[in-house]
Amino acid sequence: MRDINNFSLRPYNTFGIEGRCRRFVEIETTEELLQAVPTLNGDGQPLMIVGSGSNLLLTKDFEGTVVHSAIKGMQPTDTDEAADADTVLLRCGSGERWDDVVAHCVAQHWYGAENLSLIPGDVGASAVQNIGAYGAEVKDIIHRVEAVSLISGEQRTFSPEECQYAYRHSIFKQADHRHWMITHVVYRLSKTFTPRLDYGNIRSELERRGIAHPKAEELRQCIIDIRQAKLPDPELTGNAGSFFMNPVVAREQYKELLRRYPDMPHYDVSDELVKIPAGWMIDQCGWKGRSMGRAGVHDKQALVLVNLGGATGLEVLRLCEAIVGDVQRSFGITLRPEVNIV
Ligand code: EPU
Repeated sequence: MRDINNFSLRPYNTFGIEGRCRRFVEIETTEELLQAVPTLNGDGQPLMIVGSGSNLLLTKDFEGTVVHSAIKGMQPTDTDEAADADTVLLRCGSGERWDDVVAHCVAQHWYGAENLSLIPGDVGASAVQNIGAYGAEVKDIIHRVEAVSLISGEQRTFSPEECQYAYRHSIFKQADHRHWMITHVVYRLSKTFTPRLDYGNIRSELERRGIAHPKAEELRQCIIDIRQAKLPDPELTGNAGSFFMNPVVAREQYKELLRRYPDMPHYDVSDELVKIPAGWMIDQCGWKGRSMGRAGVHDKQALVLVNLGGATGLEVLRLCEAIVGDVQRSFGITLRPEVNIV
């Protein structure tokens, strides 16, 4: 366990923004966490759980305690719980890198995670954020989530239903549930590979490579390549992936917009609801590749805001606000950030 006062969070946010917390507690096991809990609440300071900070924008120092999971491990678990012989339950520590889990699964011929290749962040965040990409969401392979209350030390498991998963949402994002720190996630993988190729340009990209029936490794590689072509590498350029969520609007509003923007891309959510790509709207407003101070809009995907070097969180926030204002004026839609702004 590490317990450090006045700690820099710069390595713990993929924007690479400087910001300090009063106290930083890193735990490596559930037992260490249970030991630490009584020390966390005594001074009345706020608490914040931070993984690798791939969804975090720091606009100021955090006057409280940051708790970070370094719980490792990826173990197949109690197969009795699995409904059939085709299923593998893989219990992963919340401090494992998500993409290491995907790579491990693909290497072991356990399927279901490959479309989520290369998403930055840790296992714990995968379950908080319900990460999604290329036609898949992690909720579809979550079997259970194990957590500890930072208030009481209670240990609890959450079923996927109890997690209340929706698009980029779970119960762990709600204010009254933020005290649950995830220690482990059990994923449900399949031994049968069922490729999902229908999203965006996956199929055309595979065709270009002369692959008609991809193996899981080939699909993973294809998704990694598509992501790398569009999204900046946080190791080189600070960013937090999609800065905004894609807004869901009423079909009536969509139809009205379609009259003005006949080429507007969309995804049907239900008979009544339609999702409109925020990146497309931001692009239409002319923001792609533009910057304000040291914060910029990525030149290959307008949904991603980048730290051009030495940006402060407030600079990124000002850019965010300018974009929200422009999209509101042009489309009558209020964009909501996907990242947590602290
Ligand atoms: N588009 C533009 N200009 C842009 C960006 C997008 O015209 O600058 C258009 C594209 O041409 C396409 C549509 O908007 O027609 C959607 O773009 P894309 O397929 O790149 O996906 P997205 O909706 O912008 C979402 C996720 C990403 C995920 C991709 C692929 C959200 C908030 N973002 O982006 O997730 O990788 O789909 O599945 O749902 C993340 O959450 O951090 C993330 C990167």
